[in-house]
Amino acid sequence: MVAIAILAAGKGTRMKSTLPKVLHTLGQKTLVERVLDTAQALAPEREIVIIGYQAEAVRSSLSHRSVEFVEQTVQLGTGHAAQQLLPVLKGFVGDVIILNGDAPLLRPSTLELLLKTHQDNGNSATILTAQLAQPKGYGRVFCDEKGYLTEIIEDRDCTPAQRENRRVNAGIYCFRWQDLEQALPKLTTDNDQKEYYLTDAVNFLKPVMVMDVADEAEITGINDRKQLSDAYALLQDRIKTEWLLKGVTIVDPVSVTIEDTVTLEPNVIVEPQTHLRGTTTIGAGSRIGPGSLIENSVIGENTTIQFSVVTDSTVESGSTVGPYAHLRAAAVVGEGCRIGNFVELKNAQIGPGTNAAHLTYLGDATLGKQVNIGAGTITVNYDGRNKHRTVIGDRTKIGANNSLVAPLTIGSDATTAAGSTIVEDLPNDCLAIARARQVVKEGWKPQD
Ligand code: UD1
Ligand code: CA
Repeated sequence: MVAIAILAAGKGTRMKSTLPKVLHTLGQKTLVERVLDTAQALAPEREIVIIGYQAEAVRSSLSHRSVEFVEQTVQLGTGHAAQQLLPVLKGFVGDVIILNGDAPLLRPSTLELLLKTHQDNGNSATILTAQLAQPKGYGRVFCDEKGYLTEIIEDRDCTPAQRENRRVNAGIYCFRWQDLEQALPKLTTDNDQKEYYLTDAVNFLKPVMVMDVADEAEITGINDRKQLSDAYALLQDRIKTEWLLKGVTIVDPVSVTIEDTVTLEPNVIVEPQTHLRGTTTIGAGSRIGPGSLIENSVIGENTTIQFSVVTDSTVESGSTVGPYAHLRAAAVVGEGCRIGNFVELKNAQIGPGTNAAHLTYLGDATLGKQVNIGAGTITVNYDGRNKHRTVIGDRTKIGANNSLVAPLTIGSDATTAAGSTIVEDLPNDCLAIARARQVVKEGWKPQD
């Protein structure tokens, strides 16, 4: 049996924040949620989050997940946090993985390897470590000549000579619970911070093995906002490298951000200054950017989206969007459409082969196929109280600068004259002219 326990009770003083540290976000996810996601690789029987500082905020941020919470009402250190497990894991037989809630870059494969190393060697504890060029701030890990761990000393408790040791504690541990259960009550506060240190538990356990992580970026602990932004850069680098190796072109990676919830097909080209977020997927051969933000949207194959913002929307294959278009609130653009400059679509479904190429607002609208919307046309969808729908049939041509006053249904193969304000439904196959006739007064001059 495997239980995981995440230490998430600390305030995170160095963040200088009103938010508990573990609720800061890296990408769209909180630190604690990332740690929980990583731990899923072990398919643990128990998932416990130790909360304390702003416990309710941390608890409610995780209310959609099936985790157990244990409260550490005063924060007397990581060892004290682990002591809170004593009543809840009473009688538990198996291994407990304890993870700091502030180390969000750990890979699931590393955690699996840690558990395997622990179990294959019959260890009492196995501690994830790394050899860092800049070990400052981390607890130093000391081993005997056989490679077994002898002690962990916090940076602030080290002598200058001890501080030279570059092997650090990642804050990610695997313990045989029956052994840790015996060790936890023996912890003392005999250190610079006068706290109970979980790391001191190793003094009562044998054998304790260390496992150096291959990629040291994985153990990055976040204590302040500089480290949070560094972690973001590391995460971005990891995500972009993965996509580059899978056959996605990213023209200028430093100016691009891609969240780890995004899916890209091969031969996608991501142009500079482009940001892909949420549950977005981009189909093969599409060119996104420069200068675009795509969030929670599905983009088909061979599309082009330039200098545009697309949120919660769908763009089907072969369509072009932008420059300077805004698609939002479940807009759906069918295949082979052209949504051009300064066009906004809100909750609008656009049939295949339809064009709205210039200066248009289509809100709460359903358009058929091969419709053409003239430049400067808008749906008048809001009467000050309620929103109303506009429906336009196949192959209809709306002239330039029309106001389509909803609720409104326009048939197929209809044409409206430029400058019309259409307030009444139109049948199929008609021409509608709804504007004042031009009056010309010949020879007229202004009076002095
Ligand atoms: C800890 C380790 C250090 C290691 C480093 C890795 C100890 C004593 N030291 O130091 O060896 O190199 O992590 O990043 O464990 N927490 C609680 N309750 C508390 C105190 C802390 O739940 O009373 C939680 C925090 O919310 C945080 C985690 O424990 O998620 C680590 O606490 P933090 O204060 O950041 O420990 P470090 O000083 O970084
Ligand atoms: Ca830390």
